[in-house]
Amino acid sequence: MNENGHKADLQGVSETLLLPLFSRALESERDRPIVTDAKAVQLIGRIDYDFSRLAKQDLYNTVIALRTQKIDSLLQQALAVQPETLVVTLGCGLDTRFERVHQGSTSWVDIDFTDVISLRRRLLDEEPCRTFVASSILDESWMKSLEGHAPESIVFIAEGVLMYLEEQQVRWLISSLNRRFPGSQLIFTAISPLEVLLSRLHPTVGPMGLRFQWGVSRGREVETWGEGIALLEEWQYCKQSEPRLGLFRLLRHLPPAMRPSKVLSYRLRGPRSSEA
Ligand SMILES: C[S@@+](CC[C@H](N)C(=O)[O-])C[C@H]1O[C@@H](n2cnc3c(N)ncnc32)[C@H](O)[C@@H]1O
Repeated sequence: MNENGHKADLQGVSETLLLPLFSRALESERDRPIVTDAKAVQLIGRIDYDFSRLAKQDLYNTVIALRTQKIDSLLQQALAVQPETLVVTLGCGLDTRFERVHQGSTSWVDIDFTDVISLRRRLLDEEPCRTFVASSILDESWMKSLEGHAPESIVFIAEGVLMYLEEQQVRWLISSLNRRFPGSQLIFTAISPLEVLLSRLHPTVGPMGLRFQWGVSRGREVETWGEGIALLEEWQYCKQSEPRLGLFRLLRHLPPAMRPSKVLSYRLRGPRSSEA
């Protein structure tokens, strides 16, 4: 615990931001890390929090490292095609993708609750190309503020976030993005319905007293939520060849509703009427 650091006064779901941050820092200090995140290591040293409370589950850290690497790579592909992309991070926590992936003409809007953005502002710098917004992602006003931007050059990322929302909230969010930003890309992580049922036993959120709320069996299900929502890729951790996954890889033989988390990427084309 760093008692001279910035106090992390985070309640409820906000506190979960420390889990992936701590995982990325631990991963960075391994031999042959899957991802290296020097900023995460630095931030852990500047936050006054008892990190020994967070489970040091090797499998969890590996999964976080793999998802970080996968989303970094999806974003890098998007930036290679469209360098002037606006990256909108939904539920940004202390995400440090900017430090890992930013290119000169890319801009970033990072959105989270007020307590999170207040901590984020104390630890990370806003820049002309990097804005922090204190808002629930379920509040329409941040969407209105982005409406002048060319929608086809926006990439929305929700990493480790949507499982904390109710299904009707996730439906509202994705339908709203689809309607308002036709041509944009949406990347998010999702868990399975079984993981929602078992969330009380989850080694990280369980001890925090939190529960997951939303899970989905297959990425194609989300396509049925609105015309124009098109799955680009469904990427499952248990299908990856990473040796550190060990027996976890056997879960790929289970039915989709029971397989663990995935990274999903969609093109939001918008309802046909909005293309006119
Ligand atoms: C597990 S953390 C993930 C943080 C970050 N995306 C990362 O991967 O490092 C979940 C984050 O979602 C945020 N969050 C959850 N529900 C939210 C909502 N309705 N509006 C804004 N942020 C939300 C929490 O405050 C927290 O920062």
